[in-house]
Amino acid sequence: MTQPAFHLPDGFLFGASTAAHQTEGNNIASDWWGFEHSGHPVIRQPSGDAVDSLHRWPEDMDLLAGLGFNAYRFSIEWARIEPEQGEFSRAAVDHYRRMVDGAIDRGLNPVVTLHHFTSPRWFTDGGGWSRADAVDRFQRYLEHATPIVASGVSHVVTINEPNILAIMFAVLNGGLPPTDEAGAMLGLPEPDAGVRDGLIAGHRAARAYLADAVPGLQTGWSVANQAYQAEPGFEAETRAYSQSREGVFLEVSRDDDFVGVQSYTRTRIGAGGPLPVPDGVERTLMGWEFYPAALGEAVRATAAAVPGVPILVTENGIATDDDETRIRYTSGALAGLAAAMRDGIDVRGYLHWSAIDNYEWGSFEPTFGLIHADRETFARTARPSAHWLGALAREGVLPAE
Ligand code: BGC
Repeated sequence: MTQPAFHLPDGFLFGASTAAHQTEGNNIASDWWGFEHSGHPVIRQPSGDAVDSLHRWPEDMDLLAGLGFNAYRFSIEWARIEPEQGEFSRAAVDHYRRMVDGAIDRGLNPVVTLHHFTSPRWFTDGGGWSRADAVDRFQRYLEHATPIVASGVSHVVTINEPNILAIMFAVLNGGLPPTDEAGAMLGLPEPDAGVRDGLIAGHRAARAYLADAVPGLQTGWSVANQAYQAEPGFEAETRAYSQSREGVFLEVSRDDDFVGVQSYTRTRIGAGGPLPVPDGVERTLMGWEFYPAALGEAVRATAAAVPGVPILVTENGIATDDDETRIRYTSGALAGLAAAMRDGIDVRGYLHWSAIDNYEWGSFEPTFGLIHADRETFARTARPSAHWLGALAREGVLPAE
């Protein structure tokens, strides 16, 4: 029997996500800016002007609100707020506060990420998240950034995908992991233990600080979910593989106000570890398996890992140059989400990645945007998928299968 459309509960956050470094442009005091100019082979293009959202954020928000969305997740940039250690920019704090007010004025609930992969260069040069004073430095930044989230913000994501950040550090310092014939990474290396511990401590300190500084603010972090699947007979290997890359980070969310789920594809584990995408199976521009069911599975796995913790889907989407494929992917993902919610899982929002085409950590080629951004003129054009998803948001429904 086909299911009817699923009606979302009142207050459900339905919108899209971006991150500062990927959209703003000229984030020159950040570690990534330095890395982009280091000659490392993973960098095909530097971020440059990105899509100039530093100046064009009002246009981005106008479009999102006009499309029918009620939420916008964006990040604030530590490297702009504290470009040199101990030198804080009041203008940068004011800038991000204007963004929060701009979102609220347009009827978009701001979901603010404090750290989305990038750090100031001075922080990383001094050892980054494994340095002894990492937590103190992060907290100092947060103290200065507090006015940004002091009112009108319901949800703060402290750190985006700490598991991927700790894995990136291992990749950058230990060499590239094996790839399959399409160039997609085959599995993920072990997260760096020092970075992992620094991130966990930083998250806990940020939550404790914000609980006092901004009572009522909901805080959590967002974990990249790979929807691990065991081939028959490889259940124990799969559990072990996912525990260090995902499980330990999810468990941290046990005491949090919410947990952010970020899902794109699945990883199957069999003989020898992660398995390549089988021949002939559809892939995205990232080389990842086209697998919309990942979102429902990720939400269910997260609910099982941290029972009772409300879930916010903080990222889900697809890199494609065919917008019908984006709709087909997202509609499958949302059907899986609706099924999980019908089964009683407490999901508070869905924020699509991404609101707009952006800098995909080394290249502009994988286009994830609901909104197309012209790389020369920065002109924005909402794609049909944006209108389709915005209409669902306006109606407050998720599609059936
Ligand atoms: C990150 C985004 C990234 C997206 C697609 C997530 O890992 O949070 O910054 O662009 O996935 O790869």
